[in-house]
Amino acid sequence: MGSVVDVLERFGRATREWFGAAFAAPTGAQAGAWQAIGDGHHALVVAPTGSGKTLAAFLWSLDQLAREPLPADPKRRCRVLYVSPLKALAVDVERNLRAPLTGIRHAAARLGIPPPDITVGMRTGDTPADERRAFQRTPPDILITTPESLFLLLTSAARESLAGVETVIVDEVHAVAATKRGAHLALSLERLDAMLPGRPSASACPPPCGRSRRRPASSAAPATSRWSSRAPPRPSRSACRCRSKT
Ligand SMILES: Nc1ncnc2c1ncn2[C@@H]1O[C@H](COP(=O)(O)OP(=O)(O)O)[C@@H](O)[C@H]1O
Ligand SMILES: [Mg+2]
Repeated sequence: MGSVVDVLERFGRATREWFGAAFAAPTGAQAGAWQAIGDGHHALVVAPTGSGKTLAAFLWSLDQLAREPLPADPKRRCRVLYVSPLKALAVDVERNLRAPLTGIRHAAARLGIPPPDITVGMRTGDTPADERRAFQRTPPDILITTPESLFLLLTSAARESLAGVETVIVDEVHAVAATKRGAHLALSLERLDAMLPGRPSASACPPPCGRSRRRPASSAAPATSRWSSRAPPRPSRSACRCRSKT
């Protein structure tokens, strides 16, 4: 494994600039996660609350989206799906997704490079009907949702708007892993897998359990990397099942 700071070399200039201005260095959890994900592995991030796990998942996704061209078909635009069972979903999203995105845009402007054009949408039980219809017409790059809303999405015609998904982040896994809610989520993730074109081979990680990155079916079966920081007193897990074009 490279040094904690070296891992930042895997990000684009604007992301590095923002991160360097915001924080002294990546946390151990972030360095481990980015190393594994950057190497194309599935990754499970297990570390105490406040270790930067959610930011690790969002920042990698933002950076990838910023560097990828937009899909030709706008219906394939939603490439990152974030699922969290938390009631206070919006707080995590504001702090770990919207704030970094704004920071990366400002950093890009300072560096004279085009600011990332990344859209974020949320779908929960409270989402009004007109916003749900808008999701179907113009999916955002990143969709934030709950296990229950994901199930409903997959059960409706709107599931077509998930056909371009490459990365799935499952956060707060510990809150659902041992429950019916978790079993239901695992089923939804399998349903999502089944409808994606070029379906990759099954995750080696029992879902939902980890942050992972999937490779296309044509490449080698994805390896699973489990990485943990020092033994946490109260483990909290961020998880993701991802597909990668690379
Ligand atoms: N490398 C870092 N150094 C210092 N603070 C960080 C770092 N990464 C994230 N943070 C901050 O720590 C807090 C917790 O991050 P978060 O990703 O929500 O942690 P977790 O998901 O592990 O609970 C947030 O306010 C975030 O901005
Ligand atoms: Mg978190």
